[in-house]
Amino acid sequence: MMLLLLFFLLFPGHFPAGERCNPEDKAALLEFKNSLSNPDLLPSWDPNSDCCGWYVVECDETTNFVTSLTILGSLSGTIPPAIAKMTHLQFLRFHKNPLLVGEIPPAIGELSQLDFLEISWSNLSGPIPHFLAYLKKLRFLDLSFNKLFGSIPPSLSTLPIIFSIDLSRNRLTGPVPESFGHFPDSGTTLALDLSHNNLSGEIPPSLANVNFSRINLSRNNFSGDGSMLFGANKATVILVISRNNFEFDFSKVRFMKPLVTLDISHNMIYGRIPTQITESILLQELNVTYNRLCGEIPTGWKLKYRQEGFDNSSFFRNRCLCGMPLNPCKP
Ligand SMILES: *[C@@H]1O[C@H](CO)[C@@H](O)[C@H](O)[C@H]1NC(C)=O
Ligand SMILES: *[C@@H]1O[C@H](CO)[C@@H](O)[C@H](O)[C@H]1NC(C)=O
Ligand SMILES: *[C@@H]1O[C@H](CO)[C@@H](O)[C@H](O)[C@H]1NC(C)=O
Ligand SMILES: *[C@@H]1O[C@H](CO)[C@@H](O)[C@H](O)[C@H]1NC(C)=O
Ligand SMILES: *[C@@H]1O[C@H](CO)[C@@H](O)[C@H](O)[C@H]1NC(C)=O
Ligand SMILES: *[C@@H]1O[C@H](CO)[C@@H](O)[C@H](O)[C@H]1NC(C)=O
Ligand SMILES: *[C@@H]1O[C@H](CO)[C@@H](O)[C@H](O)[C@H]1NC(C)=O
Repeated sequence: MMLLLLFFLLFPGHFPAGERCNPEDKAALLEFKNSLSNPDLLPSWDPNSDCCGWYVVECDETTNFVTSLTILGSLSGTIPPAIAKMTHLQFLRFHKNPLLVGEIPPAIGELSQLDFLEISWSNLSGPIPHFLAYLKKLRFLDLSFNKLFGSIPPSLSTLPIIFSIDLSRNRLTGPVPESFGHFPDSGTTLALDLSHNNLSGEIPPSLANVNFSRINLSRNNFSGDGSMLFGANKATVILVISRNNFEFDFSKVRFMKPLVTLDISHNMIYGRIPTQITESILLQELNVTYNRLCGEIPTGWKLKYRQEGFDNSSFFRNRCLCGMPLNPCKP
């Protein structure tokens, strides 16, 4: 084994296996490159060399099919439909390509082996296509920081093993689909980031069913109840619903034990802060400011659980919250 490796290191051009790259994948990669408006941006993609050695391309160790493609910064124009010809792609990441424009093409929906799909920090527009729901092996979807508009397709909730969806920082409108309370594999947790869009309306009560690991709905125009996102038995580490128009009774929520970040600031949430929050002993970031909360901030909390307590910047601008670290409650 060592000898073979040595041979390979000394005489790479003479390695008996020759070119690893699958010829159809190579043709697809070259077609992909040539259909970009500036193909010169992928200089290492030389037709005379093994595509498994090309920068940002990875092949499977045994089958030699192209399984992974990561392009940072060098894509321009629209996403070439030739991408669909790389039928064994499992990992596709296009990140920070400001010159990448146009819609997400149907070709993406043909990549049936995809496990990881990220097209973020680019200039994509158009809708979030319903055909993403065809990607039955998808576990990770990130379309954040684009200019996507329209509503969230309800069919995304049919993705059988999805565990992370990030659609943040787009121009999405409309509600969270009711179907988002019914992802198939209820045994797994889901990370969902819909923050910084123009989404609106009430959150569907069905979301009570979802065991979120993280959820961020910040900076939209959601209204009404948000209490169904809470629950003592959930796995949620980050819960952020700041800067919306949520209006519900905070007294009744139950906090998850793993909670580290809780931000409900800038809403119209009323009621008290339940004492049960002191059982979330991992809580590090807390922001309930700019709401309509009242009553005494749970006592014994910071002394019991934290080296340093939360200061008033976690609590100010409420209707009548009182007690440490704000002013004492009136007897
Ligand atoms: C999108 O394109 C505009 C110019 O049309 C540019 O100013 C902007 O930085 C681009 N967006 C991203 C996320 O790079
Ligand atoms: C939301 O809509 C308003 C009004 O239509 C617009 O001014 C604002 O830029 C939009 N925000 C986002 C994040 O798309
Ligand atoms: C939640 O979303 C907002 C807006 O996109 C972002 O600024 C913030 O960092 C996010 N918070 C977390 C904890 O992910
Ligand atoms: C937010 O939604 C409310 C209705 O709940 C509506 O009156 C208001 O115009 C919306 N604001 C924006 C900026 O879209
Ligand atoms: C949520 O997920 C965690 C960790 O997987 C699990 O321990 C917990 O029982 C789940 N809670 C619910 C309500 O399904
Ligand atoms: C918050 O605490 C700081 C430092 O103790 C104090 O200077 C400030 O006046 C307090 N602000 C409010 C709104 O209580
Ligand atoms: C809570 O949010 C408010 C409003 O955005 C901000 O001024 C304050 O610094 C935040 N507090 C903490 C502890 O992050």
